[in-house]
Amino acid sequence: MDDVFVKKSDPILEAEGLKKQYGELVAVNVNHLEIQRGQVTAIIGPNGAGKTTFFNLLTGFTRPNQGSWVLNKKSGGQNIPTLIGGLPTYQIARAGMVRTFQVTKTLDRMTVMENMLLSSQKQMGEKMLRSVWPNWKTQQYLDTQKAEELLARYGLKEMKNNYTSTLSGGQRKLLEISRALMADPELLLLDEPLAGVNPALIEKILGYMRDLANQGVTIVFVEHNMDAVVDVSDWVVCLAEGSVIAEAEPKNLINNQAVIDAYLGR
Ligand SMILES: Nc1ncnc2c1ncn2[C@@H]1O[C@H](COP(=O)(O)OP(=O)(O)OP(=O)(O)O)[C@@H](O)[C@H]1O
Ligand SMILES: [Mg+2]
Repeated sequence: MDDVFVKKSDPILEAEGLKKQYGELVAVNVNHLEIQRGQVTAIIGPNGAGKTTFFNLLTGFTRPNQGSWVLNKKSGGQNIPTLIGGLPTYQIARAGMVRTFQVTKTLDRMTVMENMLLSSQKQMGEKMLRSVWPNWKTQQYLDTQKAEELLARYGLKEMKNNYTSTLSGGQRKLLEISRALMADPELLLLDEPLAGVNPALIEKILGYMRDLANQGVTIVFVEHNMDAVVDVSDWVVCLAEGSVIAEAEPKNLINNQAVIDAYLGR
């Protein structure tokens, strides 16, 4: 499937020969893929195409059988020699790539604010942070300020002391995005950020994605809602049976035979 590969002028991410198998099943088999910096890229494809697994590979939740990826020319995947078991997620986050989950992973028995502050503390380890960072309190204050700003920006400020279990599906998606932004990612991977979200909030989330891209955050998102994909994306990548079968601008998708055969025609 090498023929569908489209070279980008300024890729933030380059995946090379990235393969993941579960027994006989090839979940991901991406020969080449480049993600253009500062753009919104949609990943589409049928259920089981490997979209989530691809995100898992990129963010260190799953180890590839083969292949590697490069973020801003910092290597990942199995070519990292220093870390057994792959580059940990928090290091990938620190390098600038953060993801959200298809099934949101907010912690229900914590408040919205506690969820926001969790990521930064958990990543480094509170004890370690204290020992290397005498200004721990200052850092905690700054994190809280940052969390307040993000919650205000995404309409969650009034709920900051509420348990996460009280949020709607859409609000949970927004909380995950807000929490991901605590790490100041350069590349944000959103796995179905619109699933289970009501139409009014979908419009808002699409607007937020566009705003983030305008501020220089590269966005890659998985989505089944084609109206949303066409609306917000600069570029679309179609996966089927683990492989990239097409790349196109959204306006050309509807005419792409491979995409119709694998996905749209269903
Ligand atoms: N941990 C696992 N063990 C075994 N098989 C897995 C595992 N994770 C994913 N798979 C399989 O890999 C394939 C790709 O799954 P994946 O979840 O990446 O698809 P997807 O494109 O995200 O689908 P969806 O649109 O339904 O979210 C599927 O056949 C799935 O059953
Ligand atoms: Mg998925």
